[in-house]
Amino acid sequence: MTKKLFIKTFGCQMNVYDSARMVDIMRALGFEETTDPADADMIIFNTCHIREKASEKIFSELGRFKPLKEERRKQGRDLILVVAGCVVQAESEEFMNRAKFVDIALGPQTYHRLPEMLRRLEQKRKQRIIDVEFPAVAKFDSLPQARSNGVSSFLAIQEGCDRFCSYCVVPYTRGAEYSRSLKEIVAEARQLAATGTKDLMLLGQNVNAWHGEGLNAEPCDLSRLVKAVAEIDGIERIRYVTSYPSDFTDDMIAMHRDIPKVMPYLHLPIQSGSDRILKKMNRRYTCAEYEEIVAKLRTACPDIALSSDFIVGFPEETDEDFEQTMELVRRVTFAQSYSFKYSARPGTPAAAMKNQVPEEIKTERLERLQALLIEQHAAYNALFLGKETKVLLEDKAKKDGYLLGHTPQMQNVVVKAPENMLGQIVRVRIAKTAATTLDGELL
Ligand code: 5AD
Ligand code: SF4
Repeated sequence: MTKKLFIKTFGCQMNVYDSARMVDIMRALGFEETTDPADADMIIFNTCHIREKASEKIFSELGRFKPLKEERRKQGRDLILVVAGCVVQAESEEFMNRAKFVDIALGPQTYHRLPEMLRRLEQKRKQRIIDVEFPAVAKFDSLPQARSNGVSSFLAIQEGCDRFCSYCVVPYTRGAEYSRSLKEIVAEARQLAATGTKDLMLLGQNVNAWHGEGLNAEPCDLSRLVKAVAEIDGIERIRYVTSYPSDFTDDMIAMHRDIPKVMPYLHLPIQSGSDRILKKMNRRYTCAEYEEIVAKLRTACPDIALSSDFIVGFPEETDEDFEQTMELVRRVTFAQSYSFKYSARPGTPAAAMKNQVPEEIKTERLERLQALLIEQHAAYNALFLGKETKVLLEDKAKKDGYLLGHTPQMQNVVVKAPENMLGQIVRVRIAKTAATTLDGELL
């Protein structure tokens, strides 16, 4: 009998990738994914530690499964609760103390050992397992083959980070920068293409730090890797996140210009428009350098959509610093962005900095920044009104008879189309636009 696995993912795309790989692992053990936790034999929470709010939410959501587990026990069955991801990596002991009903806690670098942990759990009932090592043998070597779950897939090509931005937990939770080999990545991309992937998002915390060797042992950077992936039949669209500005080279710009499968979309977080704050963040570029990259990129690829992350209320950020961020946004203009209030993370240098910004000021600044960004997103999308574009139909929309997809610039589009068109790249005309979605009509 197949068993059921319910997996809930918090946080970034890397977590979405990790969750998909845990599903691959559990499939080999006879588990099948379910969307109903009440139906599950095993529940995995894949957690995020990037901001405090994300971590706190996990405890409250997890608590809901305690009664379910107790009820199962009374019925003589079991429900295995697993917590994975960055919260566990950062605070496994505290975590297990706060959530006593959790059976297994594992970090982002040990989930390939899940089958072994389950065996141990079965042998010694009641004993709980914590595994948050950074094993010497790369987890990627021991994962089963990846399988597409739809037309769009993530592929982790690089993990961890050596940049140590002063606010960020990633170098501690995901560890040192590690690049997978070109051979391994191309093999996984082929596997995904063979099982239905057309749209591939290459993932890395600092994705353009990716480096490796080509088939003749020549040194390769991300632009060479992307070229190799673009040669795979079936892969139609390629994107990559997240890029670090000072690692963004002219070769990457040329790649956008020269490889048609590379989509005209770039997520290039600047974080702040104040050089003084960037320095305190340990971001190793200035606003002028960032704007120079953007100018070169826009000359090479005029249709590129630019996206960014911003943090407001970093320690010592003054009104003046914040105004500089607003001005930078007005100068650069973004097609879409993500913005956050600074959140002090235990163990990071910024958490110990003096002059933390009061919550009310952070809220006020975030509201102002987001209003400006939303205005820019709406204005960017409005440029497409009445225009023709290509949409990859990826999913069913909430509304009956409609499908969801993305333009090359990564805008969300809702299209009236029959379900049998899922997975196709279709031509549409944009009939209506808003800040977050476009309405498209099939041509
Ligand atoms: N507080 C607020 N935002 C953060 N980010 C990372 N760490 C923090 C933090 N401590 C944001 C950055 C990053 C994005 C993934 O999350 O903008 O680019
Ligand atoms: Fe964190 Fe990104 Fe900075 Fe690395 S480059 S420390 S992942 S914000």
